[in-house]
Amino acid sequence: MNKAVRKAIIAGNWKMNKTRPEAKELIEAIKPLAKGADCEVVVGVPFTNLETAVEATKGTNIHVGAQNCHFEKSGAFTGEISADMLVELGVEYVILGHSERRQYFGETDETVNKRTKAALAAGLKPIVCVGELLWERECGITEEVLGKQCKLDFFGITADEMKKITIAYEPVWAIGTGKTATAEQAQEACKYIRTVIAKMFDEATAEAVTVQYGGSMNAKNAAELLSKVDVDGGLIGGASLKAPDFGEIIRAASV
Ligand code: 13P
Repeated sequence: MNKAVRKAIIAGNWKMNKTRPEAKELIEAIKPLAKGADCEVVVGVPFTNLETAVEATKGTNIHVGAQNCHFEKSGAFTGEISADMLVELGVEYVILGHSERRQYFGETDETVNKRTKAALAAGLKPIVCVGELLWERECGITEEVLGKQCKLDFFGITADEMKKITIAYEPVWAIGTGKTATAEQAQEACKYIRTVIAKMFDEATAEAVTVQYGGSMNAKNAAELLSKVDVDGGLIGGASLKAPDFGEIIRAASV
């Protein structure tokens, strides 16, 4: 992290986990661990837990995020939720383009781009996920994949808007596998993403944008990953469901 120019963001992606009472319990357990943290703390909860999370985090330093939003304002899109609907609930962040959405739900760079624009227009802070598959890394095209995703996902976005976006570098092979990228691999990819943003926008925008790492980040490996200058926090799945582990990651980002 380079705290002189950027604020680290530690965001939990709960994925499809926790009922409402369980969500309340987890947030209550996270609250004392997040208190006084020197980083932004976000919980990305399922749609059904948003209201509970917004209520439970009132007056705390914990921010609430959703895990997706649609790009249209309203209409015949069964099962979808608009950005305005999230804002109305008091939601601040939205995770977009997660590899699970790309892999299982047909999300493309084009729809990620549209969703990002809709989220920004509604006043949400998007956390946009990019990352290569294992075979893409093995073929040596990690940089091409990251470059393409950034160019397409952030097409038509202004520099000022880009500064409001958090990019989560999530190598797909590291998600839920227990196989974390090394701190060097994470740094290399996050730095490369910043060079793409510099080319697309300008140096100041690239320096301002938050680039997180995600993929089996946990209480044990967080400090090393976060010690890297271009790794500005984490998007955490499994470990964000356990308050002590999530608390330890928040602590690692706060030193
Ligand atoms: P895990 O931390 O469970 O590997 O998940 C990472 C992730 O997908 C966060 O969005």
